[in-house]
Amino acid sequence: MSPRLKAPRGTFDVLPEAAAGYARLEQAARGLFERAGYGLIETPVFEETELFERGVGDSTDIVRKEMFTFEDQGGRSLTLRPEGTAPICRAYVEHGMHKLAQPVKLWYLGPFFRHERPQAGRYREFHQVGAEAIGTDSPLADAETIMLLSGLLTELEVPGVTLRLGSLGSLGARREYLEELRAYLREHESELSRDVAERIDANPLRAFDADDEGTRAVMASAPQLLDRLEGEDAEHFAAVRELLDGAGIGYELDGSLVRGLDYYTRTIFEFHCDRLGAQSQVGGGGRYDGLVEELGGPPTAAVGWAAGIERILLAIDAPPPEPATDVFIALADGAEPARAMALLNELRSAGRSAELDLGGRGLKGQLKQADRLGARHTLIVEPGGTAQLRDMESGEQREIEPGRVLEEL
Ligand code: HAM
Repeated sequence: MSPRLKAPRGTFDVLPEAAAGYARLEQAARGLFERAGYGLIETPVFEETELFERGVGDSTDIVRKEMFTFEDQGGRSLTLRPEGTAPICRAYVEHGMHKLAQPVKLWYLGPFFRHERPQAGRYREFHQVGAEAIGTDSPLADAETIMLLSGLLTELEVPGVTLRLGSLGSLGARREYLEELRAYLREHESELSRDVAERIDANPLRAFDADDEGTRAVMASAPQLLDRLEGEDAEHFAAVRELLDGAGIGYELDGSLVRGLDYYTRTIFEFHCDRLGAQSQVGGGGRYDGLVEELGGPPTAAVGWAAGIERILLAIDAPPPEPATDVFIALADGAEPARAMALLNELRSAGRSAELDLGGRGLKGQLKQADRLGARHTLIVEPGGTAQLRDMESGEQREIEPGRVLEEL
C-alpha cells in the first residue's frame, strides 16, 4: 500500500455532520446583518504581502511569525490572509467607497490563515465572521457593532460569555503614554522576556499580552492608558460606555487589554467564553481610525470586529442536524427504477426533501436505510405502477395512486 496522506498540521476537514453547525452559524449571521443593513463583501484569500505589513503592522506576531507567505511565478510576494480588516480597507480605497453614503457597513465570512502552534480552538486555517462600519467616528458605531456581536453570540446561545472593554486613545494622544510605558519597561528590562524586551521600541503595548511570569509581574504595576485618556478620547469612551449601558450590554473595563494588531485606535474589545480554556477569545475588534489612510485612502474613521467560527461552534457544542428527509423512495422487487426517478424529481421540484436508495439494497434494507435517515415517509414503488405510502413513525401503510403522491403527503 502507498503511504497515506493527511490534512496539513493545524488544518481539518469539515465533514457533513460538522458542516451543519457552520451552516447554522452562517444563517444566523446572514439574518442578523441583513436586519442591520450590512452588505456582504468577499475579498481574495491571498493579497500582496505589503498590505498586511503596512496594515496589521511589522512588529506584530502575526506579521513577524504567523503569515503564510509565498512568491508567485512572477516573483511577487503574496500572503494568505491572516485577517480581514486590512483587505476590506484595501477594497474600500480601491473601489472609491468613500464616495458612497457613509458609513459603509460590510460583513464577511470565510477562511483565514495563521501559522500558529495548533491546539484546541487554535488552527492554521480557521474561519471568521466579521463586520466593519467604515466612515464614521461616532460612538454609536462602536456600540452598534458591539451590539451585533453580542446579539450573534446570544442568538447562538454561546454560554459563559463576558465582554472586556478598553481604549487605546487616538494615535497622537497615545504617543506620550507610549513614552511613559517604554521608560517603565526599560527600568524593568532584566525581568522581561526576550521577546518583549526586544520590542520595547517597536511595540511596547505587546508586553501586556505576554504570558511569561516575569513580564506579567512587571505589567501588573505598569501605567495603563485607560487612566490617561484625555479630551475627545475620554469623551468618546464615556459615550460608548453610556450607549452600552443603555442597551443593557454588560462589560468589564480592562486597562490591560491590547490587541494583536497595530491598527487599533480608541475603543477595543474582546468577547471571551469561559468554556473554552486557553483559547477563550471568541471574538474581538475595535476602532481603526488610521488604517484607511495608511492604505492610501482619505482620512477615514472605522470600527469593526471578527469572531472565530470554530471557537463559537466548540463553545455551543454544535447540535446535530435535524433529520431532513421527507420521503424515502424504495423500490420493491421488479419495480421500474425510471418511475422512481420520475417521482424523486417531482417531489424535489415541489420543495420536498427526497432520497432514493443508490446502494442496490433489497426492500428490507431500503426500509432500514429510510429509518436511519429519519425519513418521515417511505414511498414503496411496486411493479405494474402501484405504490405504497408508509408513515415511518406509526408504521401505517396504504396504497396510493402514483399520480397523487404530493396530495397524499
Ligand atoms: P483577531 O482577534 O486577531 O482580530 O481575530 C478575531 C477572532 O478570530 C479571534 O477572537 C478568534 O476567535 C479567532 N481566531 C484568531 N486566530 C485564530 C486561530 N489561529 N484559530 C482559530 N480561531 C482564531 C482580527 O482578526 C481583526 N481583523 C478583527 C477586527 C475586525 N478588528 C476590527 N475589525
